[in-house]
Amino acid sequence: MIELEDLTKRYGDKLAVDGLSFTVRPGTVTGFLGPNGAGKSTTMRMVLGLDAPTRGDVRIEGKHYGELQEPLHSIGALLEAKGVHGGRRAYDHLLCMAQSNGIPERRVGEVLEMVGLHDVARKRPKGFSLGMGQRLGIAAALLGDPRILMFDEPVNGLDPEGIHWIRTLMQQLAREGRTVFVSSHLMSEMAQTAEHLVVIGQGRLLADTSMSQFIAENSRTHVRVRTPEPERMLDVLVEAGLRPATAADGALEVDGSEAPRIGELAAANQVVLHELSTQRASLEEAFMRLTAQSVEYHAYAPGDVQAAVPGGPPGPPAGTAAPPQGGQAPPGGQAPPAWGENWRKGRRG
Ligand SMILES: Nc1ncnc2c1ncn2[C@@H]1O[C@H](COP(=O)(O)OP(=O)(O)OP(=O)(O)O)[C@@H](O)[C@H]1O
Ligand SMILES: [Mg+2]
Repeated sequence: MIELEDLTKRYGDKLAVDGLSFTVRPGTVTGFLGPNGAGKSTTMRMVLGLDAPTRGDVRIEGKHYGELQEPLHSIGALLEAKGVHGGRRAYDHLLCMAQSNGIPERRVGEVLEMVGLHDVARKRPKGFSLGMGQRLGIAAALLGDPRILMFDEPVNGLDPEGIHWIRTLMQQLAREGRTVFVSSHLMSEMAQTAEHLVVIGQGRLLADTSMSQFIAENSRTHVRVRTPEPERMLDVLVEAGLRPATAADGALEVDGSEAPRIGELAAANQVVLHELSTQRASLEEAFMRLTAQSVEYHAYAPGDVQAAVPGGPPGPPAGTAAPPQGGQAPPGGQAPPAWGENWRKGRRG
């Protein structure tokens, strides 16, 4: 278990982490999400005692990191894969870590095997690819067979096989009753891996909830109905007090009801249905809605007049009024620079 209480970190005038209080519990994979610069890595560094909090506290199984005896048995972490001595062989790097934590040498071979680096164990990490470096970092995290695992963007640079492997690994570690805390920007991957989510924006807690609840609360779920008699079905739905919208392909989209009720209405009125499906929003959509106001670094496409930042509360279905997602000015209302403007300014300056 990792417990944060009012955890705060200030760098000069930048409040990187702002009063975070939450608990990461064992037995489940907890995803840690937030836009670039939200404070995820800073939070993780404070968990490991690599950065001192300006205010507040963080404890691992009730202790500060510095109080843990043989910490690799309590918590294994992958922060930045760059934190490896490039000239020391992969095997020796892990052996050093093992020896300083009372871990037997055979475990080094075991973890190298687990992460698929057995064949390059005698090679130096400075010649490793990004994904190989990540695998070595993951091997180091697993070395002490720890009860808590914390990974900062572990899938960064991994190939599809590697991504699949780490997803399965994290879920297995959680099933064994361990605490697994992982950050990632890959929403589709996170949606498949984590059961619980902690979301932050500009250092502050935005959500601490289950994956399913997070998606339900921050996005729109609707029922899609396709029928050869759309006008009749429309009347049936309106008579039942619902407000269906017509999608671009002619299907009806109904908010505020469930598929079984709509199916029963269709049956009672003898309307033939070709499709009746519940459409759930993705984690990506829910995340972008929740964090729209906390995104600090916006990118603009050539020719953009307005930033494409989805935001605001879930809107009505397409076809009724405003679309659920739409372009809007970035927070602060500033128009982005015209494409090439900065480059031209740079040239002039
Ligand atoms: N050592 C430091 N000195 C000064 N500012 C820092 C330092 N480390 C982080 N920051 C600032 O703190 C804020 C949070 O950074 P952090 O790296 O924790 O964000 P993050 O959520 O991990 O972002 P990303 O998704 O891009 O990895 C940023 O504004 C960053 O510039
Ligand atoms: Mg980070």
